[in-house]
Amino acid sequence: MHWKFLLTIFALVYIPAVYCQEPVIVDAILPEVKKIGETGLLNCTVARKGTNIVTWTHVTNQQPLSRDETITLSINKDIDGQPKFEIKKRSAADGDRITYMLIIRGLREDDAGDYSCTIEIQGKKSQEWPSRIGKLTVQVPPKVLTSLTTTRIESKIGESQVLRCDATGIPRPNITWVRADGDALPNMKFTHRGSVLKLDNIRRTDQGVYRCVADNTVRPPDQYDVQLLVFSRPLVRSVQNTVGQAANGKYSAKLECKISAYPDAVLKWYKKTSQGKMLINDDDKYDIQKLQSSDLNLGETWYYLKVKNIQANDFGDYYCEGSNSQGTEFTKIILFETFECQGPNCPSTFNSQGSRLNAILVIIFFFSYCFTFL
Ligand SMILES: *[C@@H]1O[C@H](CO)[C@@H](O)[C@H](O)[C@H]1NC(C)=O
Ligand SMILES: *[C@@H]1O[C@H](CO)[C@@H](O)[C@H](O)[C@H]1NC(C)=O
Repeated sequence: MHWKFLLTIFALVYIPAVYCQEPVIVDAILPEVKKIGETGLLNCTVARKGTNIVTWTHVTNQQPLSRDETITLSINKDIDGQPKFEIKKRSAADGDRITYMLIIRGLREDDAGDYSCTIEIQGKKSQEWPSRIGKLTVQVPPKVLTSLTTTRIESKIGESQVLRCDATGIPRPNITWVRADGDALPNMKFTHRGSVLKLDNIRRTDQGVYRCVADNTVRPPDQYDVQLLVFSRPLVRSVQNTVGQAANGKYSAKLECKISAYPDAVLKWYKKTSQGKMLINDDDKYDIQKLQSSDLNLGETWYYLKVKNIQANDFGDYYCEGSNSQGTEFTKIILFETFECQGPNCPSTFNSQGSRLNAILVIIFFFSYCFTFL
């Protein structure tokens, strides 16, 4: 009776104890998200490992990687002086739990996928071995695929056009279209989501640079500029439609005009005369130049006409004219006479202004002096 009782106690304590001696993988293997080129770390923590073997396998590539701390790959490349694959073993303070950390250096796209950690238990069928999966995501910054992206479109007014942009990256990038100059898109919105931008009933003002931005939150985003060129008569605008200058033959005046056209326009300057229009040539009297500026729009050119040594007969109407295969347009700029020199190249007027100020001060002083004695 006494022995039977002890045996029962023994069985109750020992049998579960033996059963609980089975090795286990503790907790889930946390997913790892790293950028291309970085190092990924997957942790498999086991309890009661005993003499059993812990293995790591790249499930996606069906590639066994390690047994305990040994990498079993026949080729383990060198990444900056360290092996691509490595196992680091870490024991918890109580000694019962061991972490087998799989280190994967120099991450490439094909390193991504599922990795399984398995405890090979001696004398047990492999189907019964404890196993867990850890996910490795390798992020790749966006890259616009120029081969699948529109680079340049020529369009007639009123036509419809489709601008396409495609990009690679992990995760798959979002594509957004904007105008490179910050203006609104033809649909009046500032951005358009999607790889295809459809433009209907194209107007002359739709000419410009359309920017495709590919972003997947992995820095840096990528972008690509697409040119939309609209066949049109030149759009000719004066920078200032009136310009003043003094007529003593010493000063010059600059008349400026911007022409926007596709194909590029040919510029001509004219002066109105009693006989009609006189073509102006670049010579001793006139200087015709193209101005460089970074804030010109696509297809836009900035010109100036410098009228030198201005005299009375130089005043009047000037025309800036642009012409291309689509037609001819012009704008008028009036040069008028002023009393004093205008513009940044005038001789310093500080002294004359200073003496005038002095004279005013003297007058004010005299008046206030007189009033005090009234
Ligand atoms: C694995 O453990 C290492 C060291 O504790 C840690 O830096 C890393 O973030 C862990 N990996 C994951 C995916 O949690
Ligand atoms: C794409 O945009 C959607 C909506 O704004 C956002 O939820 C998603 O995270 C973006 N995807 C990427 C890869 O950035």
